[in-house]
Amino acid sequence: MRILAVESSCDETAMAVVEDGRRVLSQAIASQIDIHALYGGVVPEIASREHVLALDPLLDQVLPQGETVDAVAVTFGPGLVGALLTGVSWAKGFAYARGLPLIPVNHIEGHVSANYIAHPSLEPPFVCLVASGGHSHIVRVDDYGSYTLLGQTADDAAGEAFDKAARVIGIPYPGGPLLDRLAEQGDDQAYHFPRAHVKGKYDYSFSGVKTAVINETHRLKQMGQEIRREDFAASFRRAVVDMLVEKAVAAAVDSGAGKLALSGGVAANQLLRREARERGERAGLAVYMPPVSLCTDNAAMIGSAAYYRYLKGELAPLSLNAQPSLRLIGQE
Ligand code: KG4
Ligand code: ZN
Repeated sequence: MRILAVESSCDETAMAVVEDGRRVLSQAIASQIDIHALYGGVVPEIASREHVLALDPLLDQVLPQGETVDAVAVTFGPGLVGALLTGVSWAKGFAYARGLPLIPVNHIEGHVSANYIAHPSLEPPFVCLVASGGHSHIVRVDDYGSYTLLGQTADDAAGEAFDKAARVIGIPYPGGPLLDRLAEQGDDQAYHFPRAHVKGKYDYSFSGVKTAVINETHRLKQMGQEIRREDFAASFRRAVVDMLVEKAVAAAVDSGAGKLALSGGVAANQLLRREARERGERAGLAVYMPPVSLCTDNAAMIGSAAYYRYLKGELAPLSLNAQPSLRLIGQE
């Protein structure tokens, strides 16, 4: 079964053709980073306009004229409402014109499903850390499309904290990946940032470390001291990754599933990848992570999630609407 998948929830327009949920036949991404960089962050209205311009050319890249697919899938939430609507409208038009089934996909489920592409033999149950610009969750994947929430952030998402810290030390948008690169050259013991203690056993909080970053930069400035950006980035990254890995590994061990997977844009972080593997394996877990290109937003992951939704008969009518605050699990 070949699914054409469409992703437009934030600042990347992406399309892919995925076979049986596991094999990527073609994929393409139109990035808007250069445009939003002029404004220091994503401007929703501009994102929507850029998606509209990018969608048709992407189809030509991933599906040569004359070739067919069996269904079309689209991210319908969560994300920026205008951005989501461009993809949803485009996919509805494509489904209608070609008489194809339309499969609605949750963006977060897409991130989790990137692991199915990277690891063809991976099957539920497993525990998955979902760390993106908007989410920091630990979920137990009980079955395809079926999740139990184990923990989540009480305030900021991990990606949000990376972006904020990057901005404070003068790293331009997109902050997370650039801070990660800078941190590779720094001393992670040079500055001290607090690790939050949260009540829930698997819950996170990143607002404290974010505030500490802001306060420390002010303090250094007042004392007339230069911020050593490499060291600052490395110390901050170490604090966030320590928190992420500690609880994700504990949740995976306690769940009994024996498997820990990483997902979401923050799973592209080099230290997180190294630490999760090292500490996870030391705790007896099998550790999975998609390649960096499948951690950040892409359409291949949407095509994978769509396949398992399709198998359960979960199709959308042509009245499908965008749901900017869509959740993965009811009780979040
Ligand atoms: O999953 P994603 O591409 O989009 C959302 O669904 O939010 O995640 C984007 C987030 C941003 O906050 C970005 O700074 C962060 O992931 N990110 C990283 C890295 N690459 C992307 N954070 C830390 N290190 C990275 N290498
Ligand atoms: Zn995402």
